[in-house]
Amino acid sequence: MRKKVTIVGAGATGGSMVEILQAKGYADIVVVDIIEGLPQGKALDQAHAGPLVGSDARIIGTNDWKDTAGSDVVVITSGSPRKPGMSREDLVNINANIVRDVAAKAVKHSPDTIIVEFANPMDAMCHVAKDASKLPRNRIIGQGGMLDSTRFRTFLGWEVGASVKDVDAYVLGGHTDATMVPIVSHAFIGGIPLRQLLPKDRIDAIVERTRKAGTEIVGLLGTSAWYSPAWGTIEMVESILLDRKRILPCSIFLEGEYGIKGSFVGVLAQLGAGGLEKVIEVELEPDEVAGLKKAADAVLELVGLIKK
Ligand code: LAC
Repeated sequence: MRKKVTIVGAGATGGSMVEILQAKGYADIVVVDIIEGLPQGKALDQAHAGPLVGSDARIIGTNDWKDTAGSDVVVITSGSPRKPGMSREDLVNINANIVRDVAAKAVKHSPDTIIVEFANPMDAMCHVAKDASKLPRNRIIGQGGMLDSTRFRTFLGWEVGASVKDVDAYVLGGHTDATMVPIVSHAFIGGIPLRQLLPKDRIDAIVERTRKAGTEIVGLLGTSAWYSPAWGTIEMVESILLDRKRILPCSIFLEGEYGIKGSFVGVLAQLGAGGLEKVIEVELEPDEVAGLKKAADAVLELVGLIKK
């Protein structure tokens, strides 16, 4: 029997996730949204591509949470995206109400599910999802680091003139321009340490562009990105569904790692059938660790602004 994944939100991001997952073929997909007709229409359109994609995945679009029952993973994309001039943090109270409602419904219909939280401000929304669902920390995982890291890798590959596939680098910390921590100390291209390949001023420029990459896209499109965010999320979902035990940058509720307790923040996490299976603590440089702590403080400050 195929696994079952629910995507909450039939917007651009949710739609891209359905497209990618259909091509993977190992999961049936439910896309749920409050707008009538939208998830049904997108699901039907995508399902019609099955013979061309070569996928037998069943795709259901619905407004009824009952159809989501028994999902192995629920991805929460629902919430407002950014408009030009808005930060991810500006969305906090708009999206908290949505995420609270959705996370509670997700576990009501799929008590054993693992939630992958995507809506912004993502790290703070992980807290909301955790409180509303009452799930243990291994079953609430935030996507932000995957996206920031793929952006970092892309820019580094372009700069060096190397295949982006050979760039091994990740971004930890918070999923905001100010609290992202691109990890330069552990960045490699073809196994060669980044600092041997690029001068400091070029690395600094790429770090800066990475931090602002989401904002750069909002400036161009008038709304948030969706292709690379969707791909980043499905990498996480795949590691869980196929028990691949990949080590990926994800937002995790820390319980003392890096000296941080009680806050979601981006770290390297091993994802498998149990959801979060292990937080990998890397030996980072002091300013990188300080960056993680600053990110955790900022997340808690934002959580403090959420109206109950
Ligand atoms: C971004 C949004 C999706 O970084 O958080 O583009």
